[in-house]
Amino acid sequence: MMDKAKQDELKKAAAKKAAELVHDEMILGVGTGSTVKFFIDELGKLKEEAGLHLKAVVTTSSRSQKQLEGLGFKVSPLADVDQVDLTVDGADRVDSQLNGIKGGGAALTLEKNVAVNSKKNVWIVDESKVVDHLSGFALPVEVLPISCEQTKRRFEAEGLNPVFRLNPDGSRLKTHYGNYILDLDLARIPVPSGLADYLDHTTGVVEHGLFLNICDQVIIARDNGEIEVKK
Ligand code: 5RP
Repeated sequence: MMDKAKQDELKKAAAKKAAELVHDEMILGVGTGSTVKFFIDELGKLKEEAGLHLKAVVTTSSRSQKQLEGLGFKVSPLADVDQVDLTVDGADRVDSQLNGIKGGGAALTLEKNVAVNSKKNVWIVDESKVVDHLSGFALPVEVLPISCEQTKRRFEAEGLNPVFRLNPDGSRLKTHYGNYILDLDLARIPVPSGLADYLDHTTGVVEHGLFLNICDQVIIARDNGEIEVKK
């Protein structure tokens, strides 16, 4: 397994490449996670060194919001902006069709809402996230507390191996919207569109982490130092 310093180096390289896509007067969407943190650092540099001026910035987590505001960017709620021009986000897994699993940071609901309201979605990942078929990461599903036990039982009956995501103290993790996350422990997702369709039609499910036909471009930082842009 790759050490953290090396992985951070790769995340930083992918983030730097994505920053080349940012232009003045854009409405920019900024995602969540440790890779995006490096992208926000790059935005800070562009602001400082080149006077970057964005029309508006929306983001998908309070941590990203705090970092952006610390750098002097004003963050707008998604509902206050017209269509987002470009969103840059991380991913937990991405396959050869540019479909992905997201939600490792429990921000999937806002992430998907920002993504589907963006003209262009770019994901920044290190090579460890790239797979042939979606697998290797439990699929996050955000569920309403009012029926969470029934939803969990329904998933169990379907063989989807749901597990409530917990906080370090053992309590159930609550999302920004006060819901729970059921992580589906699946060895492989043979037909992602079939599972997405089932989850989209299950009462009690708020959102799920299958992001299909959403990503336009993925920037992959390879272990050998190369940056691959896949469209
Ligand atoms: C959060 C996400 C993140 O984009 C995903 O977890 C990747 O994060 P990181 O860059 O830290 O690996 O989907 O809900």
